[in-house]
Amino acid sequence: ESNATDAAKRRAAVWAAAQIEDGMAVGLGSGSTSALVIEEVGRRVAEGLRIKAIATSEASQKLALELKIPMSDFAHLTHLDLTIDGADEVQEGTLYLIKGHGGALLREKIVAMASGRLLIAVDPRKLVKTLGSVFTLPVEVVPFGFETTVKRLRDLGFESELRMTDDGKPYVTDGQHYIVHCKLPQVGFDAVAGGEELKGTVGVVEHGLFLGMTSKVVIGRPEGIEVL
Ligand code: A5P
Repeated sequence: ESNATDAAKRRAAVWAAAQIEDGMAVGLGSGSTSALVIEEVGRRVAEGLRIKAIATSEASQKLALELKIPMSDFAHLTHLDLTIDGADEVQEGTLYLIKGHGGALLREKIVAMASGRLLIAVDPRKLVKTLGSVFTLPVEVVPFGFETTVKRLRDLGFESELRMTDDGKPYVTDGQHYIVHCKLPQVGFDAVAGGEELKGTVGVVEHGLFLGMTSKVVIGRPEGIEVL
């Protein structure tokens, strides 16, 4: 990855972490930008910021604990004030997202839904006019009978492929599910209707379309940041 992209991510991450206030319950996202957010939150906690946090993946949980961020869970916190996460694609105008290429979409969606505000931190490459123009849509499915679920997804019109690891096995999520990558039609795709169709498919646990959930997007730019 280029230094420019890394700097953009860091700029967005630092601004996002600065939105956290004393006493907040905070959701911590997944991926490389979120890792930078967690680093910055760790730095602020070391300086005296008092928060409680819930992570969206095992990897983020581990990093947060290493940085001594006080971690909690949904047995103790029912509501989060703010969640900061990354995204794979952000649609300009709607702020609709594709998430889940880090494999954490289910927990990310549960945490985002429990959160009063969802702040998305990205570098400029993530902005798209049409959802699915760069990335496929990750769909989390139950392993049992996944072959039949993939067929149902194909019957809906989505080109669908099971996500594999480098050693040729199905990729397994933190929730012990599989991921199917679906290609979104680039003409005439209705994200709301499509999301409902996916959600209504037997075997599908959740999909990576985040619609109407984003409060703000912060984009790291060479000159500074931009907030949508
Ligand atoms: C994780 O499942 C994704 O939704 C991430 O939020 C996404 O992949 C962003 O990752 P980067 O910040 O590494 O681009």
